Amino acid sequence: MSTPVKVTVTGAAGQIGYALLFRIASGALLGPDTKVHLNLLEIPQAVKAAEGTAMELNDCAFPLLAGIDIHDNPTAGFDGCNIGLLVGARPRGPGMERADLLEANGAIFKPQGEAINAGAASDIKVLVVGNPANTNALIAQSNAPDVPKERFTAMTRLDHNRAIAQLAEKAGCAVTDIKKMSIWGNHSPTMFPDLYHAEVKGQNAFEAIGSDLDWYRETYQPTVGKRGAAIIDARGASSAASAASAAIDHVHDWVLGTPEGDYVSMAVPSDGSYGVTEGIITSFPVTCSGGEYSIVQGLDIPEFAQEKIDATVAELVGERDAVKGLGLV
Ligand code: NAI
Repeated sequence: MSTPVKVTVTGAAGQIGYALLFRIASGALLGPDTKVHLNLLEIPQAVKAAEGTAMELNDCAFPLLAGIDIHDNPTAGFDGCNIGLLVGARPRGPGMERADLLEANGAIFKPQGEAINAGAASDIKVLVVGNPANTNALIAQSNAPDVPKERFTAMTRLDHNRAIAQLAEKAGCAVTDIKKMSIWGNHSPTMFPDLYHAEVKGQNAFEAIGSDLDWYRETYQPTVGKRGAAIIDARGASSAASAASAAIDHVHDWVLGTPEGDYVSMAVPSDGSYGVTEGIITSFPVTCSGGEYSIVQGLDIPEFAQEKIDATVAELVGERDAVKGLGLV
């Protein structure tokens, strides 16, 4: 077994952090042959809670866990880091406008981008989970000019997994019968789950639901898009275990590859594919191999899908312009 992979988790004492760290340490992130060293990054007030989590991690005696360090300083927290899971973010408080939210998150993701630039390992891969995830990833990326831009990604895998689960319920099949699901756009209710290129037992998914555009438009898309709010309503707290599980899936597939004949969804810097504004960090169908992702090319986009993709991309362009105006990118 080679040198442990250094994984930095920000917001380590939060609810996603608590659901995420034990799975990373158990081998779910990088497989059964790779040891991990965890760096937990928190704000000073939450360091004690992170220490408690570290005590529990030690109590699990995970064979793959090579060590744990706890930091309240991003420069130290990202030093030598190979994989950064940026979970900690500033939630929208009462009376907070969008610009205030973006600015508050800029105060977190700008220094974290700078710290990644200064000291992360040359093979660093970053997944931003903390919302607004796509734009926070753009802020971190813009402040890490020496790191290849494509190493900064944001999470839409939870939307992807939700889209599979809802489709499986409608089609009366197992989740494993569904392939080539994809999410386009922002991790927000505007994201677009694509049934035109997904498959149910090898059949086109849109046809498998009887080409029912009303159900697609009125039920499926809003159910997937607003699932986060439905979870808060039911659980009294936001999605945590499912978000952690999606973060594991995202990094696992990026590092270890996607199965032949399947896609996953990752928000990645747009290279202009499908006419999407270059540079924004937006979700596409991708395949992964050899530690790199590629945007799936050559898909025909029907009119309904194109309208939805245009709308979610426009939202991201608006967020990019707002953070540009704040001098964060
Ligand atoms: P939480 O409030 O339980 O935990 C957040 C943690 O981040 C806290 O422990 C806080 O001390 C820490 N933190 C704040 N600023 C930090 C900084 N500068 N450096 C390091 N740590 C810092 O929140 P939870 O439930 O764990 O969610 C975390 C984020 O993930 C939220 O922004 C949430 O909206 C987002 N999220 C994203 C999803 C996605 O699909 N992309 C899905 C679900 C949640």
